[in-house]
Amino acid sequence: MERYVMKGGTPLRGEVVIGGAKNAALGLLAAAVMTDEKVKIDNLPDVRDINVLLSAIEGIGATVNRIDAHTVEICGKGIHGLSVDYEYIKKIRASYYLLGALLGKYKKAEVALPGGCDIGSRPIDLHLKGFRALGANVEISHGLISAKADRLVGNHIYMDKVSVGATINVLMAATLAEGKTVIENAAKEPHVVDVANFLNSMGANIRGAGTDVIRIVGVEKLHGTEYSVIPDQIEAGTFMFAAAATHGDVTVRNVIPKHLEATTAKLLEAGCQVIEFDDAVRVIAAEPLKPTQVTTLPYPGFPTDMQPQMAIVLALAEGTSTITESIFENRFRYVDELARMGANIKVESNIAIINGIEKYTGARVSAPDLRAGAALVIAGLAADGVTEVDDIQYIQRGYERFEEKLRGLGATIERVANDHDAQKFKLKVS
Ligand code: EPZ
Repeated sequence: MERYVMKGGTPLRGEVVIGGAKNAALGLLAAAVMTDEKVKIDNLPDVRDINVLLSAIEGIGATVNRIDAHTVEICGKGIHGLSVDYEYIKKIRASYYLLGALLGKYKKAEVALPGGCDIGSRPIDLHLKGFRALGANVEISHGLISAKADRLVGNHIYMDKVSVGATINVLMAATLAEGKTVIENAAKEPHVVDVANFLNSMGANIRGAGTDVIRIVGVEKLHGTEYSVIPDQIEAGTFMFAAAATHGDVTVRNVIPKHLEATTAKLLEAGCQVIEFDDAVRVIAAEPLKPTQVTTLPYPGFPTDMQPQMAIVLALAEGTSTITESIFENRFRYVDELARMGANIKVESNIAIINGIEKYTGARVSAPDLRAGAALVIAGLAADGVTEVDDIQYIQRGYERFEEKLRGLGATIERVANDHDAQKFKLKVS
C-alpha cells in the first residue's frame, strides 16, 4: 500500500492554493440530480470521495460528464434506479445524501444503511426523523433504508442535535415538498449554506441557511444552474496548522477568512501571528508555541475536523493544554500513533490532556482516519528525522495532491509504493 515518507525539521514557507470544499461538494453533487436539466459545478476537489459519489450518481442513471478534474456536468433526466448500492455507502457515508435528493424529486429512494466509521458510531436517526416529519414512510430492513411518500408536506422539524448531514439531507427533501418547512437547531456550517445557495440557484426557496432556523417553501420543480464550490476551510486550516507546527510562514490562498475564525483564534492563542486578507490568510509561527484549551463544537465553534491538527501543534507547546472532543466519541485514535513520535498526551473520556514536548522524533505510523492522517503528516514534517505514514488512502479521500502542495511549501516528502522506494528516499535524505 502507498505511504508518505518525509524528513522533518524544515519550516514550511510560501503560498498554497486551497481547493473546493469536499463536504460542500458532496451535498451539491447529490442535490444536482434533483432537476432534469443540466447542472454544471466547478471548483470540485479532485479527491476520492468526490469520485465515488459521482460513480454512485452515474450508477442510478444520471449522466455525468467530467469536463476536467475540477468541473462536472450532471443531468438527472435519465435516472432509472432509485436504489443506491451498498458498495458506494461502504466507501463514503455521504452517499446517503442521495436519499434526501431522490426522495424530494421522486418521492421514493433506497440507500444502504451506512455503518459506523473510524471516528464514531455516526447514527442517522435525525435524517430519518426529518423525512418522516415530511410525510415519508421510512423503513430499515436487510441493511437498506427505504423511504417513500405519496406526498411530501412541509413541517416544523426540530433537530435534537446539530447535525450537518441531517440538515442537508432534510433541506433537500423539503425543497420539493408542498408548503412550508422550518428546520430548527439546524447546522450552520459553510457547506450547509453552500448547498442552500446552490438549491436556490436552481429555483428553490430557502431562507436562513447559516442560522439555526432554516425556512423552506417547497417548489414544484428545480431548473439547471452553474455553480462553484466554496473553498475548503478544513484543507486551509490543515495547512495553517502545518505552518504552526513547523515554525513556518505560510499563506493559504483562495479561502474565506470568516470560515476560519475559530482556527485563527486558536492559532493566535498558541502564539502564532495570523494576518487576514480578502481571500487569503497568512500564518507566521516564529515564536515558541503556547498552550491553550480547545473544545470542538458545531460551526462557528472550533471544528472537530481540525481537532487532530490542533493537537499536533499543542503537543509542541511550552506547557499543558486540553482538547475536549464534544462531537464524536472516537476521535483520539491518533494519540497512540503520536506517542510513538514522543508526544505526551493522556486521553480521559473525551478530553485529551496534552503536555508539550520539545520535538517529535520521526517514526513509522498509520493514519487512523482522514483528518488524523493529515495531522500525522504534519507531525512528521515537524519531527527530527524520517517519518513514514501508512494507510494514506484515508488522506487521499479528502486532500488533493497533498504531498505536492506540501513540497511546494518546502517540505521533503514523497508518496512511495513499497519498502524499496522508502529506502531509496531515506538514503537520498540522509
Ligand atoms: C459531517 O459529518 C462531515 N462529513 C464530517 O467531516 C464532520 O466531522 C461532521 O459533519 C461535523 O462537522 C461530511 O460533511 C461528509 P453530523 P456528519 O451529522 O454530517 C450526531 C471529514 O473529515 N448525529 O454533523 O455525519 C453524530 O453522531 C468528515 O470530512 C446523530 O446523533 O456529522 C455526531 O455526534 C468526518 N444523529 C453529531 O451528531 C444523526 O442523525 C454531529 O454529526 C446525525 C448525527
